[in-house]
Amino acid sequence: MSKLCFRGALFHTLGNPVHNADAAAYYADGGLIVEHGKVLKAGAWDDLQSATIGLPITHLPDTLIVPGFIDAHVHYPQVDAIGGFGEHLLDWLKNYAFPAEMAFADMHHARKMAKFFLSELLRNGTTSALVFATVHPHSVDALFEEALARNMRLITGKVLMDRNAPDELLDSAQDGYVQSKALIEKWAGKGRLGYAVTPRFAPTSTREQLDAAGKLLAEFPDILMHTHLCENKKEIEWVSALFPEARDYLDVYARAGLVNDRSVFAHCVHLTAKERADLGTANSAIAFCPMSNMFLGSGCFDLAAAQEADIEVGFGSDVGAGTSLSSFGSMNEGYKTAQLKGQRLHPFQAFYMATLGGARALHIDHHVGNFTAGKEADFCLLDMAATPLLKRRLSVSKNAEETLFALSMLGDDRAIRRTYVAGQLAHDRDTE
Ligand code: GUN
Ligand code: ZN
Repeated sequence: MSKLCFRGALFHTLGNPVHNADAAAYYADGGLIVEHGKVLKAGAWDDLQSATIGLPITHLPDTLIVPGFIDAHVHYPQVDAIGGFGEHLLDWLKNYAFPAEMAFADMHHARKMAKFFLSELLRNGTTSALVFATVHPHSVDALFEEALARNMRLITGKVLMDRNAPDELLDSAQDGYVQSKALIEKWAGKGRLGYAVTPRFAPTSTREQLDAAGKLLAEFPDILMHTHLCENKKEIEWVSALFPEARDYLDVYARAGLVNDRSVFAHCVHLTAKERADLGTANSAIAFCPMSNMFLGSGCFDLAAAQEADIEVGFGSDVGAGTSLSSFGSMNEGYKTAQLKGQRLHPFQAFYMATLGGARALHIDHHVGNFTAGKEADFCLLDMAATPLLKRRLSVSKNAEETLFALSMLGDDRAIRRTYVAGQLAHDRDTE
């Protein structure tokens, strides 16, 4: 059967609800028809019904159909480092992140972790991600091989680090360039895969290495650039000591040609007004990582200011500094971060950032992110009665806004009943 049909409540966004309230679409009785792995039609059930005649219909009670979630910043080698007690960023890297990444010198470990990581993404309803690998080229091979086998739309890249990290995790400007180039030629555009040139952050690269990363971007205009920016105050002081010639942290990257409309910067908690304006001018994107920012005590991201500067913002789990692979975790802590800033993160906006906004940040929105006809059918069936508390709370909800908000506060992997990748069932909570 090339066509599949699902009936339930349905939510997706057609644009950024912060700019246009009509961009959010909710149908209490909705449906989705998938043909050959792509969206054929989605909307109110009444409007779809004639197209469903003769099709077997999957109609599960208490189901909300949403686009697959998109994690705009996550480190797959850090799964074993989640929940590292007691440190802020720089010591956390030394004590937790780097040791976990050193274990990836072993290709078998990398393969095992790639499988585990992608299974966990799907169990959390996440169908696409922009992922840090490690400095080892085979860490990229392992993740791409597994993502290709699962037909996932996934982007990763070899980490570039030629200083200020353990010797086992260092490459050189030249080796990093050559290895990245070989990986791009091998993987970029294969299946649904994409490549991101991935300098870890300014302190772990020399100018020479950042310049080499810029050269790669100039040679391969379709790939992304993925790094960290302005996460922690001590990190920022360190960057200004290491790069005295740069006007600010962002300028370190800009001097190497790393700031453009295909750049994704994780965190951006402590941007100056100038840096924020420059990101807006360059059309770069931000991965907002509230779970990580709270866990490491990094600070509160200014979402309203980023929106004001017209910067695309997606959610990043930033696991292992983030404490969950669930997009509900990002929505939950994102809301609380906004509260601390005196701002409001509306649930439509939060779901947008976890789906279409993330897709736009990663330049995959012409393929995924909502249910526009012709897009790849990556989606989840959410169980609105996954727990007694969720069921009870939603039973008294008065409207879509309240339902989505309560779901984002109470939801976790238990609410992901099924995940579909390009129309194929990729996770079924009730049979696994
Ligand atoms: N900055 C540089 N590397 C990292 C990392 O692995 N995690 C986080 N949260 N920040 C970083
Ligand atoms: Zn990170």
